[in-house]
Amino acid sequence: MPLIEFKNVSFKYGDAESYAIKDINLKIDEGEFILLTGSTGCGKTTLIRCINGLIPHFHQGALEGEIIVNGYSTTECTVAFLSTIVGIVFQNPENQLVSLNVLRELAFGPENMGIPREEINKRIMEVAEKLELKHLLDKTPIELSGGEQQRVAIASALTLKPRILLLDEPTANLDPKSAKMIIELLDTLNKSLNLTIIVIEHRLELLMDYVNRVILMENGRIIADGKPSEVLYSHEAERSGVNIPRLIRFFKKLKELNPKLISNPVTIREGVEALKKVSE
Ligand SMILES: Nc1ncnc2c1ncn2[C@@H]1O[C@H](COP(=O)(O)OP(=O)(O)OP(=O)(O)O)[C@@H](O)[C@H]1O
Ligand SMILES: [Mg+2]
Repeated sequence: MPLIEFKNVSFKYGDAESYAIKDINLKIDEGEFILLTGSTGCGKTTLIRCINGLIPHFHQGALEGEIIVNGYSTTECTVAFLSTIVGIVFQNPENQLVSLNVLRELAFGPENMGIPREEINKRIMEVAEKLELKHLLDKTPIELSGGEQQRVAIASALTLKPRILLLDEPTANLDPKSAKMIIELLDTLNKSLNLTIIVIEHRLELLMDYVNRVILMENGRIIADGKPSEVLYSHEAERSGVNIPRLIRFFKKLKELNPKLISNPVTIREGVEALKKVSE
């Protein structure tokens, strides 16, 4: 059974004229690390709101079809219950961090769920250790750098021990080095906890070394879904206007010039291998 399944899902906000997402059919297995992308307004945020239950429980509108997360139909459970299965991290951690200090922030979720004190403390220590936050526990959110704030936002989602983590442009406000650190952290969490991760990101290049799948949206629909090497070399990707990584643009050109080049490299290592093969 997939961990997340969309069955013919469409959603229209409030009294909007058009659908924000339309005819979505999607299966996601445990342990996947997925890049969700597409041009502005194409429905990425709406799609992940359906996974953590903000749609339909918080954002009113017309929802058609069914979303099943870890065996539960999202319309039949509360957002609080879903938060123990699905964690979410947004673009602006300042808006997400609500507590006086990092320790309180990490305790916030499990306290609201009525988890016993001892268990909360254990979880906080585990997460703080894993995300290297121990030295920051008594700091207030505004004393932290953007990258540290994002680590705290991820940590506070993890204290509920979710199986799925959704991130909506988590690196948009970070410098390149901090952005890379956050993505590397996600890779570690994906591998060590078998955490299923969906990250919305416009800077595709950042994720090429890590994701196993790319989902590309346009006008509320999924227009391509598959391995990075399939999706990012597709006509759909070209047409949609997403920011195709430079390495891929380079190899697309090279393939036009040299028919012996048959693979679709997405990482530098794959690129080097492809060039070696051609020169053999
Ligand atoms: N809370 C809302 N109320 C009404 N309409 C909304 C709301 N949120 C999004 N929309 C509309 O739904 C459509 C899809 O928006 P969504 O935010 O899901 O796109 P997105 O792909 O995340 O865009 P971006 O890359 O700009 O974040 C857009 O037409 C948008 O205007
Ligand atoms: Mg968005």
